[in-house]
Amino acid sequence: KVIQFKIITIFPDFFKPMLEYGIFSRAYKKGLIGFETIDLRDFATDNYKSVDDEPYGGGSGMVFKPIPLGKAIKKAKSKKETKVVYLTPSGRVFNSDIAKELAKEEELVFICGRYEGIDQRIVDLYVDYEISIGDYVISGGELAAMVVVDAVARQVKGVVKEMDSVVKDSFYDGLLDYPHYTRPETYNGLKVPEVLLSGDHKRIELWREKMKLVETLTKRPDLLERAKLNDLQRKLLKE
Ligand code: ADE
Repeated sequence: KVIQFKIITIFPDFFKPMLEYGIFSRAYKKGLIGFETIDLRDFATDNYKSVDDEPYGGGSGMVFKPIPLGKAIKKAKSKKETKVVYLTPSGRVFNSDIAKELAKEEELVFICGRYEGIDQRIVDLYVDYEISIGDYVISGGELAAMVVVDAVARQVKGVVKEMDSVVKDSFYDGLLDYPHYTRPETYNGLKVPEVLLSGDHKRIELWREKMKLVETLTKRPDLLERAKLNDLQRKLLKE
């Protein structure tokens, strides 16, 4: 069973590049993941194809109407267990743990909001996850959905050619990645760390584990408190 991503949006074409470039596109073409956009306007009930309206109580901005959106969600969900994700700055801040959790699902429906948001009753009735991609506001849920869908797809087996590289990515074990180097050996007077040229795989492995801790300690000490460290990492941290 292959995970199915379904995106409800007023801008389906926004997602075209995902299917044209890179790892996500390759996985889609190989049938490792399913991906489909659903045009919210197809569910509009009036002649003007309107999907938004003024907020009750007044104020600025427009709100997505519940009837077209509710219909789109019902159409998108092929079974009742399907989880619905609404991208909103009011949601839980997205991270690697949430990506891994969502990757276990068979089908995910994403709602991309525009304007001020969507009618709250849609959230109350249908939404399982409210997710934010960070503490800032972007102009619509489309970019946020692309971020979440890409990160979730990377956790699906086979999408990234070597699962090895996903496991070694930043955040997989709650730590930042170690620094990377490639040829030439000297660049603008800066040398590649000697250990990486040593051919001693044990030493290289140890250096990389150490550097993950150094990177995390200096750039994101907040991550260390939550990281699940292994015995080696705990021992290195004491040094
Ligand atoms: N829509 C607007 N801003 C957003 C954010 N930070 N995260 C998710 N969806 C959004």
